[in-house]
Amino acid sequence: MPQLYTKPSAVDILRALELLAVRPRTFNDAGDAAQNAQIVHQSGVAQYLTSIISSALAWLDSDELREAIWDAASARLCERSGRTAMPAISRVFKIPMTQDIEFPITLHEPALTSDNLGMKTWVSSYLLSKRLSSLLISASSLLPSTYKNNRPLRALELGSGTGLVGLSFAALWGSAATVHLTDLEPIVPNLEHNVSLNDELLNKTGATVSTGVLDWSIQPGPQPSAEEKYDVIVAADPLYSPEHPKWLVQTIKRWLSHDGDARVVAEMPLRDAYLPQIEDFRQRMHSMGLVVLKEGEEIGYDDWEGKDGEALQVRCWWSVWAWKTGKDQ
Ligand SMILES: C[S@@+](CC[C@H](N)C(=O)[O-])C[C@H]1O[C@@H](n2cnc3c(N)ncnc32)[C@H](O)[C@@H]1O
Repeated sequence: MPQLYTKPSAVDILRALELLAVRPRTFNDAGDAAQNAQIVHQSGVAQYLTSIISSALAWLDSDELREAIWDAASARLCERSGRTAMPAISRVFKIPMTQDIEFPITLHEPALTSDNLGMKTWVSSYLLSKRLSSLLISASSLLPSTYKNNRPLRALELGSGTGLVGLSFAALWGSAATVHLTDLEPIVPNLEHNVSLNDELLNKTGATVSTGVLDWSIQPGPQPSAEEKYDVIVAADPLYSPEHPKWLVQTIKRWLSHDGDARVVAEMPLRDAYLPQIEDFRQRMHSMGLVVLKEGEEIGYDDWEGKDGEALQVRCWWSVWAWKTGKDQ
């Protein structure tokens, strides 16, 4: 690293700061750590960055160069303060379509502020998106077949966040489905932006995607008609407050078609703090008359690191639900 007492040129400092950039993981596997691991030893980096930010950089010619260096050093410092302190990023997620073919979904994630968890893509949405193609292969047993009856399947995503699951669903089903991505009002503009970032892919597959506000805590006016209800509801990582199970299940009740083919497909991380919410969700789904058709657990990796730079494992639970029939009782 160029040391400040040697009065290095702006080009040298900016080049060094570029080398220190930390790219977020893409959840793929623990091996992603290699993508982040700089050849630079991390000890002392924070001190180096702080020394740049606090230096007047008086030997440089222009304020513009000084500003560019301070901005870059601040960004590198933020990147080392955990995912929640990261500046805005865009990333590409590769989602399998068949065993050999995958498609890229591009997502913008604005910088996170206090209560906007939907501005970031969470690990269970990546796992669920990858699982969708295998659900599609066994579609006749796991997902509704209404698209065979002259109308596209109607799918709804609850708590879409950046939209990975809904967009993956749309790209996979193409013209056979219409997909509505929803979240709280502050999250929807970025969600819309992410749909537009994937226009080319969606056009190629013939998918129809829309976005809108849907707040689970509000159950407005009259019930939707049978035509307005959805054949499939998908949700990833939707439970992190005590009210969420009740709100989510009442929203599913309102919007899920009563057809025997209707399905709910969900995936959520089994984080200790939220296990009671998951149990509450299970019980409420059962009480409402839904049963688990298929479920499983799998391991993913958070996109921030442990203290020693290691990948952090997250166990996630996925489930596919349908209305109880006589033979389930
Ligand atoms: C942990 S994030 C998961 C986002 C996305 N599904 C993912 O996995 O990347 C939870 C999402 O639920 C949304 N959410 C929380 N409470 C909600 C509510 N009452 N109504 C609708 N969405 C809500 C948040 O805005 C956020 O987008």
